[in-house]
Amino acid sequence: MNRKTMVHNMTTYHPHIPVLLNESVDALITDTEGLYIDGTLGGGGHSKEILNNLGENGRLYGIDQDDEALEEASSRIGDDPRFTTIKGNFGYLATLIPPQEHGQVAGILLDLGVSTHQIKEAERGFSFQEDGPLDMRMGKFSGISAYQVVNEYSYEKLRDIIFHYGEEKQSRPIARAIIENRPLETTGELRKVVSSVVNNRYEVKSLARVFQGIRIEVNRELDMLKSVLQESLEVLKPGGRIVAISYHSLEDRLVKRFFKAGNFEGKIEKDFYGNPLSPIEPVNKQVITPSEKEVSDNPAARSAKLRIAEKTEGGGE
Ligand SMILES: C[S@@+](CC[C@H](N)C(=O)[O-])C[C@H]1O[C@@H](n2cnc3c(N)ncnc32)[C@H](O)[C@@H]1O
Repeated sequence: MNRKTMVHNMTTYHPHIPVLLNESVDALITDTEGLYIDGTLGGGGHSKEILNNLGENGRLYGIDQDDEALEEASSRIGDDPRFTTIKGNFGYLATLIPPQEHGQVAGILLDLGVSTHQIKEAERGFSFQEDGPLDMRMGKFSGISAYQVVNEYSYEKLRDIIFHYGEEKQSRPIARAIIENRPLETTGELRKVVSSVVNNRYEVKSLARVFQGIRIEVNRELDMLKSVLQESLEVLKPGGRIVAISYHSLEDRLVKRFFKAGNFEGKIEKDFYGNPLSPIEPVNKQVITPSEKEVSDNPAARSAKLRIAEKTEGGGE
């Protein structure tokens, strides 16, 4: 694919190939004239396909916290009276969607994580393969940047982020080395410090994990995911669906438990007679993953996991 467009008059948009496109859109749309939300608009790949499958009275809100994504998706989709973009964090879903539409939404899509554009754009500071400032904020109004995490957090906090959010076992020596080499200004400098303490054989994996951990902390990704899942029950109608594509086990665990039980412990509450009280139930028992062909065409899809759930009658009320 060689399509590249300009965003912000300066930046070239790095195309993002939508993951599990047909599987997710087929699962999402149960009523072609319904109201839908794409909570992670990105380059608009999923949104375009959703619109292709909606009738003339169907409608779609596309949410993203990143101006560059909103601009790219708007130019890709063009003028379509059925489509409205919303700038904001999906963690505040119920506030972003007009109150008169609460309880009306037929489906919500969440294609979690970062886009190819965000990763490849060195200035955004997400990637250890590009040299850029330590930023990693998906939205420019997000509280802290990677610079603060790397340069201001205590040893214990850094170690825990790298261990829990990055799932990196060598979190102690890495956190210690970061602190000894402060201040670090760029992703290249952070890369050098991490590489100096990890086993050569696992260098790339360790780098990916450390960068993932810091990114999750900067964007409060797990808190925002919990929040959007809970708030989705406010805006969905009974029978409305959430379709979530996650890219690492921390996200997938939260999605799986919530879809099973409507809480993050994954424990289904029961009434006095033993009837389940879950406000939501999974549609697919088996998680859906990309085909070998999709992964070979688009390696970024390799860890994707798709889950689908439906709000039950009376769920969330
Ligand atoms: C994997 S990309 C989505 C790609 C899109 N499905 C496509 O096919 O072009 C994820 C997008 O979600 C956005 N995003 C991630 N977390 C978000 C949040 N909490 N609130 C709003 N947008 C978020 C990112 O800025 C990014 O543009």
